Amino acid sequence: MCGIVGYIGTADAKEILLRGLEKLEYRGYDSAGIAVANEKGVHVYKEKGRIAALREAVDPMQQSDVGIGHTRWATHGVPSQLNAHPHQSSNSRFTIVHNGVIENYEQIRREFLPNVNMVSDTDTEIIVQLVEVFSKDGLSTEQAFRKTLSQLEGSYATALIDDEDRETIYVGKNKSPLLIGLSDGVNVVASDAMAMLQVTNEFVEIEDKEVVIVTRGEVQIKKLNGEEVDRDSYIAEIDSTDIEKGTYPHFMLKEIEEQPFVMRNIITKYKDEHDNIKLDENVRNAVTAADRIYIIAAGTSYHSGLVGKELIEKIANIPVETHIASEFLYNMPLLSKKPLFIFISQSGETADLRGVLVNAKNMGHPSLTITNVPGSTLSRESDYTLHTYAGPEIAVASTKAYTAQMAVMAILAVDAARAGGVTIEFDPLQELAIVANAMEIFTNQKEEMEEVARNYLSVSRNCFFIGRSMDYHVCLEGALKLKEISYIQAEGFAGGELKHGTIALIEEGTPVIGLATQKGVSLNIRGNMKEVVARGANPCFISMEGCEHEEDKIVMPKVHEYLTPLVSVIPMQLISYYAALHRGCDVDKPRNLAKSVTVE
Ligand code: F6R
Repeated sequence: MCGIVGYIGTADAKEILLRGLEKLEYRGYDSAGIAVANEKGVHVYKEKGRIAALREAVDPMQQSDVGIGHTRWATHGVPSQLNAHPHQSSNSRFTIVHNGVIENYEQIRREFLPNVNMVSDTDTEIIVQLVEVFSKDGLSTEQAFRKTLSQLEGSYATALIDDEDRETIYVGKNKSPLLIGLSDGVNVVASDAMAMLQVTNEFVEIEDKEVVIVTRGEVQIKKLNGEEVDRDSYIAEIDSTDIEKGTYPHFMLKEIEEQPFVMRNIITKYKDEHDNIKLDENVRNAVTAADRIYIIAAGTSYHSGLVGKELIEKIANIPVETHIASEFLYNMPLLSKKPLFIFISQSGETADLRGVLVNAKNMGHPSLTITNVPGSTLSRESDYTLHTYAGPEIAVASTKAYTAQMAVMAILAVDAARAGGVTIEFDPLQELAIVANAMEIFTNQKEEMEEVARNYLSVSRNCFFIGRSMDYHVCLEGALKLKEISYIQAEGFAGGELKHGTIALIEEGTPVIGLATQKGVSLNIRGNMKEVVARGANPCFISMEGCEHEEDKIVMPKVHEYLTPLVSVIPMQLISYYAALHRGCDVDKPRNLAKSVTVE
């Protein structure tokens, strides 16, 4: 949710900021802006809409080698040019960008800014106005900035420039992600390393309640009380080609196609030289010590957590509950005596999960994060991390991260089972290799999937996905994929639940996608499909070799029953992709969404 960038160096700041924002657009894309400084002052450009609109608005002749930028996902105030960042203080001396939510902004406004005329509806504006107030009290910019940040409650990654000192960017962070990139005579600021790989791959992480004073030649990290902090930099291991679309029309299609490679990558990363599972012993101990595991996640990651529960319970015999993070945060169930919290998050930044993690830590419970971004907030703050090795996922709709999460949980489950003395035949490393091949068969059948999307979804306003047991969890994910990118009302249902209410929605021609990969319930789900067909539904079965029927539209190659979700979701991802494409939707950046949900 929102991304920020900053640049101070020798090159054209506006171009670097714009390119950086293009890489951060996945974090929000309802408005964007930059401020660049030169000897004539600070120049602010902002526009409602995408970075492309901002690019048009920026004066190409404006030369500058220092500036800050922002791409927005609105929280306070509608998406508009007025509410777009950067925001300036009343005397225009200070200019700021901010990612996060200031929870006590009303209180600050009443207490410190009663006579200040606010221009925007954002919570951000109070930060920059407060810096001005404190600087008018005689504080230096750095002191005013630190004093301002110590008044704030909530989350922020923020960067400020001062018209009276155009050689410095002041940066602060609490709860929202922020990195400083280092180079020779050039330093940069970014919510995500991807934005500044164009300049450097050497970064320093900033911790909560720290400020950074960034000049061309120096990066000084301080606590809010001014005490200096020493921190080593690291090299970000991201290949810049991973964050380009290449020849693909959309990141989503590229990421769907990457799934077989991701599986093979996971196998390599989690295999030792004897072809056994290689897993951090501390993680193993934490899992086997737990009397109950609480999986906490949101959205697509929650759906993978539902599958993870089944895998861990069936394979390792450890009780598991999977919870939606935002619900768990305010309505926690009674916990067992020795719980382990597992946080599943592609981004590792989701605020709802972090809220639960903070509570779990306060209660003294161990935590493990399964994430695609090992340096992320959840990864840093939990006791242990398992990396999903899916490579950067740029499309807002999650695809390869979902299958990677389930693959890692299968490995974790088997490792825990073996450590706990459970005899288990299932070899996840071998089986994932079979999964990778099966995935490839689907990713090579794009025309067929496009045809299904055309036949079933081109004129529908709704669609149902039905399945049982493991298939039901995949149906939830299939429905989420379809609705978030094509805006077709789609719901996933447990097949047996239909006649307890939902079947009333079935009309002549309603598309119903049925999933039948689980032998034990395959006949039951086929019975449920007959019930909806009798009421006019247009059925489309996805099944697996071994339990297929002649009328099935899509039959996936046989994979181990534990791992069917990793393959059966692929036709659903592709069908959703083509349905969205046929409707002219913006596949990679669906309306109202952002990739990294850093507000509650
Ligand atoms: C849907 C999607 C979201 C995320 C959810 C959690 O395609 O991507 O539902 O899964 O916002 O995000 P992470 O996994 O980053 O915690």
